[in-house]
Amino acid sequence: MDKLLITGGQPLAGDIRISGAKNAALPIMAATLLASGRSTIGNVPHLRDVTTMMELLGHVGADLVLDESLRIQIDASNVVGIVAPYDLVKTMRASIVVLGPLLARFGRAIVSLPGGCAIGSRPVNLHLQGLAAMGAEIHVENGYIHATAPRLRGADLMLDLVTVTGTENLMMAATLADGVTTIRNAAREPEVVDLADFLNAMGARVEGAGTDTIHIEGVPELHGAEYRILPDRIETGTYLVAVAMTGGEVRLKDTDPDLLGAVLAKLTEAGAQIETGSDWIRVCMTRGRPHPVDIHTSPYPGFPTDMQAQFTALNCIAEGSATITEAVFENRFMHVSELERMGARVKLEGNTAITSGVARLTGAPLMATDLRASASLVLAALVADGESTIDRIYHIDRGYETIEEKLSQLGARIRRVSH
Ligand code: EPU
Repeated sequence: MDKLLITGGQPLAGDIRISGAKNAALPIMAATLLASGRSTIGNVPHLRDVTTMMELLGHVGADLVLDESLRIQIDASNVVGIVAPYDLVKTMRASIVVLGPLLARFGRAIVSLPGGCAIGSRPVNLHLQGLAAMGAEIHVENGYIHATAPRLRGADLMLDLVTVTGTENLMMAATLADGVTTIRNAAREPEVVDLADFLNAMGARVEGAGTDTIHIEGVPELHGAEYRILPDRIETGTYLVAVAMTGGEVRLKDTDPDLLGAVLAKLTEAGAQIETGSDWIRVCMTRGRPHPVDIHTSPYPGFPTDMQAQFTALNCIAEGSATITEAVFENRFMHVSELERMGARVKLEGNTAITSGVARLTGAPLMATDLRASASLVLAALVADGESTIDRIYHIDRGYETIEEKLSQLGARIRRVSH
């Protein structure tokens, strides 16, 4: 199993390229199941989760080719399978996004229930309630969701909670339903908009994505399309926090500052200087330790839960105290006990973490627990005195493309070792 070896203390400097967004690529790849014909998807990040989605699409019978421009071509014309097996779903909860497309196109789907994970119980009841309201018969047997609907029908859906993949699943299912579907209290995340744009390129009629009310007029069939995935705002945010912690000056290319409003505001509050262009962000941190920043996570356009762990790490070395409230997931503070092993001072009270910044963290052997928690450990290790080793980095490989190469390019002392 690979580990990351990091020696802290280097300021970061230089340019790096931001990859395509994992959380847009996964549902967009799943959406290709809605049509027969070939889709070509560009800017797909090279990540373990993307490989898992490719395996899943291959498992149901889609043809996948990586072309010479590193775009993924997916042809779902010959799909015969309707089963998403436990072995794949357990390694990636986002596999649930094949449920809507399979059911809408084939009238049946059998998808393993994802179960809980390191950040909470993460039920999919809202996905299932929405599909049931569209006429699907659903039951759970032996850990699998069995959904049947010869043809889904449009419905007026009011989601009890804002759910990203729930909105995506229902939006995809509705593209082939009979009549109009309205999704209220829909997620407004940029990745939902990216999916809607791809669906429209496939011939769907989706309006209102990016607002809390999405209308979808069902069509009899969709066709393949060519599309380019939007930049990864969480990868972008993670590197920005890295610089705010280590000091230095870095330019991130091929990103989109408009997707990061809440994150850029907090970085500025922390003392970083931010400059933006249409597809780049420059971050410069010249003051010593960052100012502490209070964080309250919420659905987009609020502060993203996927950036909470990284800002917790930043607050651990800030000059003063801060309060971080995690309001999206119930159990997303697994990084805290590892940060404490590096000398951080954090008090956990329910879904709130109160940090008292310290002048220095010390390197330690660390264990990654989930994707964003692992990212926060990398950031802490970059500023800590001495060497840290981070174990179980397959979590990082799920969501950060070649993190050690990108950070080395900026001057960090980081390398991957196998043992
Ligand atoms: N929820 C329910 N019932 C449902 C669905 C969600 O109670 O049927 C609850 C969840 O338990 C959670 C809240 O609603 O408390 C929001 O969860 P959501 O459904 O929005 O999360 P998700 O769709 O499973 C996506 C991202 C996550 C990101 C969240 C929140 C993908 C593939 N995953 O998950 O990304 O944290 O939205 O923004 O898009 C990551 O990339 O590290 C990651 C975890």
